[in-house]
Amino acid sequence: MSDFIDVCSTLDMQDGSLRKCETGGREILLARVGDRYYAADNRCPHMGGDLSRGTLEGTTVTCPLHHSQFDLSDGRMRRWTDWSGIKLSAAKLLRAPRPLKTYEVKTEGERILVRFSE
Ligand code: FES
Repeated sequence: MSDFIDVCSTLDMQDGSLRKCETGGREILLARVGDRYYAADNRCPHMGGDLSRGTLEGTTVTCPLHHSQFDLSDGRMRRWTDWSGIKLSAAKLLRAPRPLKTYEVKTEGERILVRFSE
């Protein structure tokens, strides 16, 4: 079991914000929703969009590229692009829908710590 790694300060994150952190060669998405923090891979499972440039509504992050949506509480995919019809069918064939990898988060004082699991 891996240890928690200090990734940034709670003071750097406003409620409802997204932030990209780079640590140990990984690009991580951090989100704050109220007093809770969430961590996930920053790259969209669809085609690698930068999720930190997306939008956050509740615990749902929307990718800025093709608007796939993922729930940061468990990584569940809520929507695979905002396409429809044959375009969506083709997109699903080319790149099967998949969840977003999420990570365990805790805070210690003003620090946000993330545990990376494989
Ligand atoms: S890269 Fe994120 S929806 Fe396409």
